[in-house]
Amino acid sequence: MGQREEGREQKAEGRMQRAEGRGQRAEGRGQRAECRGQRGFKDKKYRERRTYFVKCASGYKHDTPIPRVIFTEEETQTWNLVFKELKNLYPSHACKEYVENLKMLCEEGIYKIGEIPQLADISRVLKERTGFQLRPVAGYLSPRNFLAGLAFRVFHCTQYIRHASDPLYTPEPDSIHELLGHVPLLADRSFAQFSQEIGLASLGASDDDVAKLASCYFFTVEFGLCKQDGQLRAYGAGLLSSISELQFATSSRALVKPFNPSDVIKQECKITTFQDSYFVSQSFTAAKRQIREYTTSILRPFGVRYDPYTQSVDVIKNSNEIMTAVDELKDDLGLLNDTLTKLQSL
Ligand SMILES: [Fe+2]
Repeated sequence: MGQREEGREQKAEGRMQRAEGRGQRAEGRGQRAECRGQRGFKDKKYRERRTYFVKCASGYKHDTPIPRVIFTEEETQTWNLVFKELKNLYPSHACKEYVENLKMLCEEGIYKIGEIPQLADISRVLKERTGFQLRPVAGYLSPRNFLAGLAFRVFHCTQYIRHASDPLYTPEPDSIHELLGHVPLLADRSFAQFSQEIGLASLGASDDDVAKLASCYFFTVEFGLCKQDGQLRAYGAGLLSSISELQFATSSRALVKPFNPSDVIKQECKITTFQDSYFVSQSFTAAKRQIREYTTSILRPFGVRYDPYTQSVDVIKNSNEIMTAVDELKDDLGLLNDTLTKLQSL
């Protein structure tokens, strides 16, 4: 989504020192990737199809059902091919939360070979499980707009499918990237909270701070790794939707560092090549704590708190508002404490 756009803006700021030869190779790969990406835009029929998806997204109104798309046979074949290939890799390369939730989506009959999942069906399931909702979008959003959506548990999602001539590559995030990369983990409560935490931190932040948060998002939600049972596993959508980078990032050939927001914001976000480094989090809860600690350095004359009852964000500006929030939390904690005491006395 917008994070790729952000990555381009970040190049000057966070560029890593690279050996000359390595840089030239990366540049060559980038140029080849650009040529591949242009194939779709030379195809008149494909351009017309993309215009159709732009109209679908532009006409969408908040809180209305997401229109169901009738996908072409060619688009379905592309989905079939990518889904089949990646499904074989997930048990040995994806984090367990991803594998569990993909299984759930298959059992719900939403993910299957022969039919591209509909955003309307996915959004319903996500809302029931984590409160996240999908919203169709025509293409790139600015990092600020995209992150603001996460603060409200809204995930902006493309609906178009990559060009059929190159099913295993897309120069921009298409619906297959969203469906196989992002969606399964948005059904995980801990991951959903982690994603929302980055979004909440972005509200009212300066452009510079939004750019840094976008880097944190890029190296976690898009390209993050975690360690489970001693093995590197992917949870980033850019990895989970790319056969070659998923294999590379979890291999001994990749440079892997512990996740630390202060280091991540200095790292260049690569768009058309593999990343120079990947970052490993211990867990989504630990990463959320690190993001929360990091965001204390963001200067805002207010705090924010998500209200799940009204699905809105409360702006906290003074001590009275803090006391009101604390009283609500005390009520919730009291309820949990009473329940615990009862259960322990049984
Ligand atoms: Fe993405």
